[in-house]
Amino acid sequence: MKPEDFDLISTLVKDRSGLVLTKDKLYLLESRLVPLARKRGMSGLGDLVAVLRNGRDERLVSDVTEAMTTNESSFFRDIKPYEHLRQMVLPRLMQSRASRRQIRIWSAAASTGQEAYSIAISLREESAKLAGWRTEIVGTDLSNEVLEKARTGFYTQFEVQRGMPVALLMRYFTQVGEVWQIDPSIRAMVKFRPQNLLASFAALGAFDVVFCRNVLIYFDQQTKTQVLAKIARQMPADGLLFLGGAETVLGISDAFRPLSGFRGVYELTGQTRH
Ligand SMILES: C[S@@+](CC[C@H](N)C(=O)[O-])C[C@H]1O[C@@H](n2cnc3c(N)ncnc32)[C@H](O)[C@@H]1O
Repeated sequence: MKPEDFDLISTLVKDRSGLVLTKDKLYLLESRLVPLARKRGMSGLGDLVAVLRNGRDERLVSDVTEAMTTNESSFFRDIKPYEHLRQMVLPRLMQSRASRRQIRIWSAAASTGQEAYSIAISLREESAKLAGWRTEIVGTDLSNEVLEKARTGFYTQFEVQRGMPVALLMRYFTQVGEVWQIDPSIRAMVKFRPQNLLASFAALGAFDVVFCRNVLIYFDQQTKTQVLAKIARQMPADGLLFLGGAETVLGISDAFRPLSGFRGVYELTGQTRH
């Protein structure tokens, strides 16, 4: 691929999603976009670049952007966040929200839904304590393709084996032929919606807890800072943020600070609130 073609695609993807494609990702770009070009009846990347260059095929631009996202996810990924959610976050919120009895949780880069459903299962496991509470889980992603899969609640054997404890698999899934279907009552706990983290998300409302895990790693520093500042604005002063194991706010955002004793959990500093 010509350097100017790589630059065209990487600029377009960065503008649309924040994802930074460095030159060492050329193989990734080719392996993801050649099949897309073929699907569109094009002979190869040359044709695809030509259509992108004339700038009129908006659908192709979003298909290219979606194709370049990494949608890797698993149930109860890294396990600790879900222990923190049940053992620390929920009791804390139930105390502070005792009069309102409402908790809203956002899975901000939900991919194929494993994160949002792991949150839903965690809440269901605490249902005795949460009786009489209204809980709402919203899962969002830039990619419509992953959201469609998330909404179905169907997962392969491989997908459920990655992280889902057997007892919970038995309790909350039904095997349908080769695949596993999540219980309709768990599925009903999550609403999936398209949302680009670069766009305004004021319309989503406020969230007590935000999982924004394993997406900031793909952004440059400025984008991380902006996204974290916007997330902070959607949270009440005692809200909590979960980031991925390879992510941090240190040196990136003054809106959050690590919550001592709970790795991967961040609290608001109040600094961007005024
Ligand atoms: C690696 S997955 C993380 C899934 C899940 N949070 C986890 O930790 O398992 C990253 C997701 O971020 C989404 N994504 C990338 N850029 C985005 C953006 N600008 N806005 C919203 N979602 C984005 C991708 O489509 C992908 O599904």
